Amino acid sequence: MSGGYKFVVVANRLAVDAAEDGGWKRSPGGLVTAVHPIVRRLGGAWVGWTGGPGEAPEPFEFDGMRLHPVGLSEDEVDRYYEGQSNATVWPLFHDAVEQPVHHREWREAYETVNRRFADATAAVAAEGATVWVHDYQLMLVPGMLREQRPDLRIGFFLHIPFPPVELFMQLPRRADILRGLLGADLVGFQRPLAAQNFLQLSRILLGLEPKEESVEFGGRTVVARAFPISIDVDEIEREAADPEVQAQARHLRQELGDRRLLLGVDRLDYTKGIEQRLKAYRELLAEGTVSNDDVVLVQVATPSRMRVQQYQDLRERVEREVGRINGEFGEVGRAPVHYLFQSRSRAELVAMYLAADVMVVTPLRDGMNLVAKEYVAARVDDDGTMVLSEFTGAAAELDASFLVNPHDVEDLKRGLCAALAATPEDRSTRMRAMRATVKDHTVDRWAREFLDALGGAS
Ligand code: ADP
Ligand code: F6P
Repeated sequence: MSGGYKFVVVANRLAVDAAEDGGWKRSPGGLVTAVHPIVRRLGGAWVGWTGGPGEAPEPFEFDGMRLHPVGLSEDEVDRYYEGQSNATVWPLFHDAVEQPVHHREWREAYETVNRRFADATAAVAAEGATVWVHDYQLMLVPGMLREQRPDLRIGFFLHIPFPPVELFMQLPRRADILRGLLGADLVGFQRPLAAQNFLQLSRILLGLEPKEESVEFGGRTVVARAFPISIDVDEIEREAADPEVQAQARHLRQELGDRRLLLGVDRLDYTKGIEQRLKAYRELLAEGTVSNDDVVLVQVATPSRMRVQQYQDLRERVEREVGRINGEFGEVGRAPVHYLFQSRSRAELVAMYLAADVMVVTPLRDGMNLVAKEYVAARVDDDGTMVLSEFTGAAAELDASFLVNPHDVEDLKRGLCAALAATPEDRSTRMRAMRATVKDHTVDRWAREFLDALGGAS
């Protein structure tokens, strides 16, 4: 069976989630931020889940995109999404900074749901279409799709890190996952090291003979390369130039008084190093290196995967630490940490980026980290500094930030102090360098390079 679309994007989530009022809202995370502008530009269909349990709604149009929902039962949300995807694969692929949990029923649900995505994709893709599958929730889809539709050009992009061989080897049914990925013609990663890990794994696990950037599998050549993802720079710059957004940024600064603003914006996820950043900040306050009269930390944390135990535990720990810092160092009307457990609109985020003195991005491990790039894109004034973890993909491109090792609290403190102390000339030199990089590597370029390498639509 073949459908009518020459270009199909397949991702766990659609660009929108079902909202409580029955409408649609933009769904969270870096994948949607990056892929959304591409699908809008190229047209085609997007196959994905609506973010809640139940039957799939009929396909619909949204913001110039044709969305084809895939339904998940309550049990599948539990086992495939919260279980195998986010309590097994997610922690394992992020250096096991939290202990991965393994359950047979989760793996079975992962396979069943991946099959459903493959079937839904096979039904909408035209003869010879280009299909672009995304991320760790759907690693079996390329192989399953190829069995049904050998006519397709299939690309796969992994938005998160690909682990070193010895960590991947912990995954039960690891060879099936690898064969699933090898169903693609092109497998893209954020960093060259990830592509190397993948090729090395094909040798160790399946006895294949990889070359520098490819491997032969099933009579085909599978190319594995890095394509560092980015953002829609024009969109962020437009927001930053909007007088209303600028007024919002000024208002925020007035609200905070004459204190300098440290800003964190993350999904509430244990990979993001939020606890480490709070600890470093508390120690700086305790030592008197920074003072509550001079500095304030605003931490915006989007609720994420809140039914997964590890995320509930993290929320408790973060909120306890925020309470502790505010209790120990705050005054009436003047808290050292403003913690917002909320999702904010793009315009509000950009206003915060504009208002910040120091953007604090401290993941223990992150495939790329688009927040870092959004901040740089928003700083049309060439001002502001950034403390950035070495363990993000973004660090390779944004090395004019203050790079830190978030596992080392002393190094984090050093980075924060250096960023706060930077002179206006130093800030502007660093920001100009980072802006040149981000403006040169837009999400459009990322997609074009990937699709050119895949030999399909662009
Ligand atoms: P991840 O993919 O792990 O979520 P990224 O930093 O790559 O991390 O991407 C996060 C995306 O989600 C960014 O586009 C960012 O603007 C958005 N985001 C993060 N926190 C919030 C928030 N509190 N409100 C709204 N959007 C957010
Ligand atoms: O790129 C990381 C990623 O996991 C995406 O795959 C995902 O859509 C996003 O972050 C947000 O996570 P979730 O879809 O689980 O809310």
